[in-house]
Amino acid sequence: MQGLDIAVGQALFERIWVSSPSSTRAADGLGPLFNARSCAACHPGGGRGRLLDDGGGPDISLLARLRDANGAGDSVYGVQLQGMAVPGLPAEGRLVLGFEYRGVPLADGTTVTLRRPVARVADPGYGPLDPDTRFSLRLAPNLAGMAALEAIDDADIAAMADPDDVDGDGISGRLHWLTSESYGKRVPGRLGFKATAAGIDEQTRIAFVQDIGISVPGRAAGFGECTVAQAACRAAPHGNSPGPDDPEASALVVDLVSGFVASLPPPSPRPMDADARAGEALFHDIGCHSCHRPVFTVRREDESTYDVKPYTDLLLHDMGEGLADGVPEGDANPGEWRTAPLWGIGAVTAGGDASLLHDGRARTLLEAILWHGGEAAGTVERVRTLDARQRDQLIRFLKTL
Ligand code: HEC
Ligand code: HEC
Repeated sequence: MQGLDIAVGQALFERIWVSSPSSTRAADGLGPLFNARSCAACHPGGGRGRLLDDGGGPDISLLARLRDANGAGDSVYGVQLQGMAVPGLPAEGRLVLGFEYRGVPLADGTTVTLRRPVARVADPGYGPLDPDTRFSLRLAPNLAGMAALEAIDDADIAAMADPDDVDGDGISGRLHWLTSESYGKRVPGRLGFKATAAGIDEQTRIAFVQDIGISVPGRAAGFGECTVAQAACRAAPHGNSPGPDDPEASALVVDLVSGFVASLPPPSPRPMDADARAGEALFHDIGCHSCHRPVFTVRREDESTYDVKPYTDLLLHDMGEGLADGVPEGDANPGEWRTAPLWGIGAVTAGGDASLLHDGRARTLLEAILWHGGEAAGTVERVRTLDARQRDQLIRFLKTL
């Protein structure tokens, strides 16, 4: 995509959508239910969201997926809680967070306090949620480098998978196979915290519909994520034109926005000093690299190659009870998450407390590591027994990514 198209794509990524009917037909169709009015509201500058420290909210960039034990959405509220609605309709409710705290002792006597968000819905707009509905909280991730993740060959990802742990290292990892709307066939998912989207285009379509309430080709209902039980919402004015396939965002708009996202380059690593280099060696000795795979070689059409350094294998791993949230999605179990890319993690944590992991619960890199369990339990145990200097070296290395 060329410079001008990228600039237009960026403007659309930042566009504040308005409710229908309005005088600016091209930018209306918001909602009726929505989480935010623009992509940029949750991904500022294409970056990641942040949890407010006191849990006082509203945390716009935090989404709550709604699922029962079998993965179906709430019969009234659908698959996602939308905290905003167009004038005249009730919003679905306010997501309110509290935190549960617990201490984890390290071998050298230090104790690290971990916090876990506990969500509830205040002022539910459509009656009580189904008692079986559970929440999965997701904080908007950084979008830099998505095109590089997309360019990695399926076969290279598949080669890392070891679903039955045949090599006996305690780490399995599997592909999340999806029937992709965009590709029209079974493909491995690679975007989203549970690898639920095959690529940027698909995730952009999902985001338009579920997060902003903007219909797209193939998901053309103007009422967005309103369920049958939300009749007034289904009947509200929308921005679809009368044509059979003229949704609120056209194929061109989706392409331009996806093109802008694809243009965001991967984060660049920072120079390493001796401590960081020692930390890099620990990263490998301890086994972090078994999931956070440092590098993939990507082949261009003319057979030349380049390296992509995302520090992820793009596979699903069982991360244990601590990170499980009781919500299956697609074929992914509640405790399975796609290895988070670590590129860019240095910049995210440079300014003090950050919001790491899928729901932003970890404020520091060490907290994020200590939440790892399941397949990563052995690795975390080795981190727990490092001395303070080695721990600092590991963190110092992560801060160069
Ligand atoms: C209300 C907040 C919100 C809005 C608005 C939003 N996103 Fe997101 N975005 C998220 C969250 C949360 C995720 C993680 C979703 C998941 O894994 O379930 C995400 C994931 C993504 C991903 C995949 C990133 C990855 O690391 O795999 C892309 C690409 C993306 N969003 C693009 C967009 C685009 C384009 C728009 C506008 C059309 C948009 N988003 C609007 C919150 C938002
Ligand atoms: C078994 C696979 C596995 C191993 C081993 C592993 N990780 Fe992870 N890591 C993950 C997954 C999956 C996530 C995403 C979890 C989530 O969001 O809930 C993650 C998330 C992270 C995050 C948070 C990233 C972010 O953007 O929020 C950091 C930091 C991290 N890992 C560092 C490490 C380090 C350091 C080690 C070695 C001590 C390690 N990991 C070992 C799979 C693994």
